Amino acid sequence: MECIRIFCPATIANISCGFDVLGLALDGVGDEMIIRKTETPGIRITKISGQQLPLETDQNVAGVAAKALLKDYRYSGGIEIEIEKKIKPGSGIGSSAASAAGAVGGLNLLLGEPFSKHQLIPFAMQGEKLASGVAHADNVAPALLGGFTLVRSYDPLDVIKLNTPGQLHASIIHPQIEVKTADSRKILKTQISLKDGIRQWGNVGGLVAGLYTEDYDLISRSLEDYIVEPIRSMLIPGYDKLKAAAKEAGALGVGISGSGPSVFALSKGSDRAREVAKAFQEAYTTIAVPFEIHVSKINPEGIKILEQW
Ligand code: HSE
Repeated sequence: MECIRIFCPATIANISCGFDVLGLALDGVGDEMIIRKTETPGIRITKISGQQLPLETDQNVAGVAAKALLKDYRYSGGIEIEIEKKIKPGSGIGSSAASAAGAVGGLNLLLGEPFSKHQLIPFAMQGEKLASGVAHADNVAPALLGGFTLVRSYDPLDVIKLNTPGQLHASIIHPQIEVKTADSRKILKTQISLKDGIRQWGNVGGLVAGLYTEDYDLISRSLEDYIVEPIRSMLIPGYDKLKAAAKEAGALGVGISGSGPSVFALSKGSDRAREVAKAFQEAYTTIAVPFEIHVSKINPEGIKILEQW
């Protein structure tokens, strides 16, 4: 194989209760990337469409992630990367992760899969470090592995792919304002009360149990965030209104997608997810911020090959 075109999924990190540890991959919302082998050594980003982003390898999350992989693999040739960015940076649905995971996932396929998907996660995390200053894995892990993922530990890195109940669907509203992950991390408190900790880790356990037993009521009860949402929701116009409308429409739970401003809801079934998306839309008609809406099933496989030659 000399060239590969892939789909790099958008992702929802945190999933309410799991700040920096839980994430899921979306289907049908994401970037595309072409990666090709060349004879001239080195990594070149030759084209980026859709967004204004740096082409310099060391300043681009895809370039940095690909470079981290090639540092660990003997390959005398070079690679060229083209990125069609459909996910806006600062949207909260894993724009940088799609590029970083896409670069290493695509490159690995092109090289004949010398690394497992799990082994690719630390390379992709280098891209996240460039984007936000923190090498968090809760977007790149689901982008690479698909489905729901849990970062049980960062040191040493221990990422677990969780079960995905078949009927879960996500509705997302993306208010068209940019929230930089680095900025929305700076406003968080660095200490939490024991009381909030108890409620939060109870929910993480409940959500993981609910995903495995496919208990949608348990999933619903567990989608609460006592630590991050109260602070970050202030950055999102109409957050409380969106949450109330989606709950009213029957969502299992509603929360901030990653570091925002996107807001997500999980629902049982695609019809309900579409109703929830409509509720998001109606709730936002009185708010003078343009928005985009997505409805997606959970993507079980992560990065997908669209074409290879
Ligand atoms: N866990 C990260 C954060 C995800 O919330 O800052 C960013 O997409």
